[in-house]
Amino acid sequence: MAAAAAASSALILLLLLLAVAAADDASNGTTTHLSFFMHDIQSGSDPTAVKVIKGPGAGGSTATAPALGMTFGDTTVMDNPVTETASPTSAALGQMQGLYMLSSQTGAALMVCANLVLTSGDHNGSTVAVLGRDDTGQDVRELPVVGGTGKYRMATGYVLWQTANMSGADATVKLDVYLTTGGDGATIDANAPVSSPGDGGSGSGSAGGSKSSSGAAPTSRSGGWAWSCAVALLVAAVVGLGSS
Ligand SMILES: *[C@@H]1O[C@H](CO)[C@@H](O)[C@H](O)[C@H]1NC(C)=O
Ligand SMILES: *[C@@H]1O[C@H](CO)[C@@H](O)[C@H](O)[C@H]1NC(C)=O
Ligand SMILES: *[C@@H]1O[C@H](CO)[C@@H](O)[C@H](O)[C@H]1NC(C)=O
Repeated sequence: MAAAAAASSALILLLLLLAVAAADDASNGTTTHLSFFMHDIQSGSDPTAVKVIKGPGAGGSTATAPALGMTFGDTTVMDNPVTETASPTSAALGQMQGLYMLSSQTGAALMVCANLVLTSGDHNGSTVAVLGRDDTGQDVRELPVVGGTGKYRMATGYVLWQTANMSGADATVKLDVYLTTGGDGATIDANAPVSSPGDGGSGSGSAGGSKSSSGAAPTSRSGGWAWSCAVALLVAAVVGLGSS
């Protein structure tokens, strides 16, 4: 009876440790949520967003976005402050640098192409690249994150873009950024030979490079599992000794 109880508790411990090891592996694929407010200031003597191309407004009145004071083709370059709260004097977290163009002939939809340059804490120096459609007629717009640098190298994700306050042409926009970084095992050796799917994978010119680069991730992963198994066996042995 005691031996059976010890065996089953050892099995439970083993399963728990394997679950912990799996969660550890997955931590690189988790999503980070960052929240910001962007200040798009077009008025006054010190604007952060400046119209650099006046669009022809082709396509008739439907191409005009009166609420934005824009017509089809209008292009604005921005270096907008990004802060912690809706107040422009709250903690500065970065700048949104890029441009937006009214690129719909039937509504107030912008094409946004910008880098979110982070400047605070351990984010300082990292950037997030945003490229997408901002349909200002929608309450919440989803823009893709197409990459990043520094802490957010190889990031993917999206930004929820919501106008919090509009004062004339000036806007305060709430940004909710969701980022996933690739983690390990995502590097492809550019010098590795390319084999087509039907190749069987063992061409005569095949060097060792591709094998070693693709082998890196599974090695570290199996190391974690092996460690868990060793600890579980040790615990099982201790439990076994204690019950005898
Ligand atoms: C961010 O990094 C720059 C360049 O290294 C440095 O000058 C600046 O003081 C840093 N800012 C913060 C808030 O750490
Ligand atoms: C909206 O912006 C204007 C101008 O900056 C400001 O006076 C007003 O208090 C803001 N409203 C809200 C709800 O934040
Ligand atoms: C993600 O993987 C890299 C490379 O293996 C590692 O240096 C980093 O600490 C990992 N990050 C997390 C959050 O586990």
